Amino acid sequence: MRGCVDASHAPSFSSSSPETTQVVIHRDVYPCCILLYLTLPACYHAPLPSTKGIIAGGRRLEGVQGDDKTSTNTARNLSATTKMIVITEKELTLLAGAGGLALYAGKQGPKCPFHRMLFAASNLVLLGGGVYVLWRSWSQSPPAFWCSLQTVRKKSRERLRGGKKARGEDAKHQDARVAAVLDLVRPNIWELEPYRCARDDYSEGILLDANENSFGSALPPEDRVLELERYPDPYQQPLKEKIAVFRNVRPEQIFVGVGSDEAIDLIMRVFCEPGRDQILVTPPTYGMYKVSAKTNDVGIVAVPLTPEFAVRVPEVLQAVAVSPRVKVIFLCSPGNPTAKLVPLEVVEQVLQGASGCMVVVDEAYVDFANANAVSACQLVEKYPNCLVLQTLSKAFGLAGIRCGMAIGHPAVIQVLNNVKAPYNVSQLTSHMAHKVFTAENLAVLQQNVSDILKEKTRVVEALQGLPAVKKIHSSDTNFILFEVPRAQEIYRDMAEAGVVARFRGHELHCKDCIRLTIGQAHENDTFLDLFKKTTEKYLGKYT
Ligand SMILES: Cc1ncc(COP(=O)(O)O)c(C=O)c1O
Repeated sequence: MRGCVDASHAPSFSSSSPETTQVVIHRDVYPCCILLYLTLPACYHAPLPSTKGIIAGGRRLEGVQGDDKTSTNTARNLSATTKMIVITEKELTLLAGAGGLALYAGKQGPKCPFHRMLFAASNLVLLGGGVYVLWRSWSQSPPAFWCSLQTVRKKSRERLRGGKKARGEDAKHQDARVAAVLDLVRPNIWELEPYRCARDDYSEGILLDANENSFGSALPPEDRVLELERYPDPYQQPLKEKIAVFRNVRPEQIFVGVGSDEAIDLIMRVFCEPGRDQILVTPPTYGMYKVSAKTNDVGIVAVPLTPEFAVRVPEVLQAVAVSPRVKVIFLCSPGNPTAKLVPLEVVEQVLQGASGCMVVVDEAYVDFANANAVSACQLVEKYPNCLVLQTLSKAFGLAGIRCGMAIGHPAVIQVLNNVKAPYNVSQLTSHMAHKVFTAENLAVLQQNVSDILKEKTRVVEALQGLPAVKKIHSSDTNFILFEVPRAQEIYRDMAEAGVVARFRGHELHCKDCIRLTIGQAHENDTFLDLFKKTTEKYLGKYT
């Protein structure tokens, strides 16, 4: 048939199923399809998303209601986030319309001047639109742009070679999972245009863009260090690279914040609609989940741990099933105040069973428990609904600098970045955090952890020898939780005498419990001495 290209050799595209539908393209109009071919299939491998008004991977995606501005912002956010070129529905309609017209006009043949004109005009629109989409993707994220183009080229070659499947089933499932996770993001978060500063694009030269004081601070000269008159790096990329190597993840999987407390609050603001949505916690657990939930007017569903501090997985999944408003599940591993690790199999059961929720695994204390083996960081690649919280406040001994991180799917991390304050991590914090990730300093960290664990064993043994102590819970952390009658009075008495532990007796399953942080040997000795005297005072010698 004259003028037709055999479908098996022609580029194909479809707005519903890019892998299966072949479109026979008229040879005369072949060139005008190249741009459409470039823009649409560029989205195929996108590990993404679900936003109303956005087309990705050739599919119309559901999720967020919004006007054109929303679509454009979302497209912008997504193309900055992911390895894809995102095209809004409006743009697609325009390009597809122009493509259709070009096909039609080309088919009518070159003799009729009207069809020639139509052909030229529609090709022009197609060209302009295609170039615009490509330009936008490039300007948002050059690496993503190249990645997309490379994927297109690879896929073209595969197709021409005889149709090796462009994407495996696994990748499709993963896309669907990421889409489901991004659907959890509140619509207003998609609508926002992230704060951008000139420094995002230009960070060197004469910097007169941010209303800083280039005369410098009022500090004495010896304290004028680290260019403190300048705003810090908004995304802390070099620091993320160091953390990524240490945690065996990728920099784009890391959010850095003002302690993990900032991440807890951001997660709530990103995923939970105030006055409507809920988080699920497993008491006894870290108190800030509740404080953040209350601050953000987010409801709380509590599924208590067992008295042995194990997560009740069936009950958690049941609670999520009956309450579709639960958007985030907080698991604390090792727990505070429980000191107990949640086994990775349990975390995985929750991730699988509650795939419609974000599952936040708070690992503030993980470095006291062989992090490489037990950290849920190894699950973030597989489960886009997994977010791991970590901190430099505990094993790293840097509570004073306030530096924590969230580790998760890059698309989720980008959303957290879009919402955070622009310069959340200070220059002082960043400087100190950088320093700790040298081989030499990490060796000191390991030594400190090992010393703390030795001290813990010693303190536990000493407490076991005291008749007043009724139970000492096993501990995967730098603190222990133990039971002693009249705990509150003993705690108060000791605090007034200058040794401060923490009374936890009001927490579920923690009746008469004191939580003791393991300190240096002399601090622990002082604690043990005073504790012995105080328990004898309240309970007698042979309780
Ligand atoms: C379980 C848990 N998560 C998070 C935090 C807060 O850590 P950060 O200092 O990084 O805000 C704490 C602090 O005590 C904690 O116990």
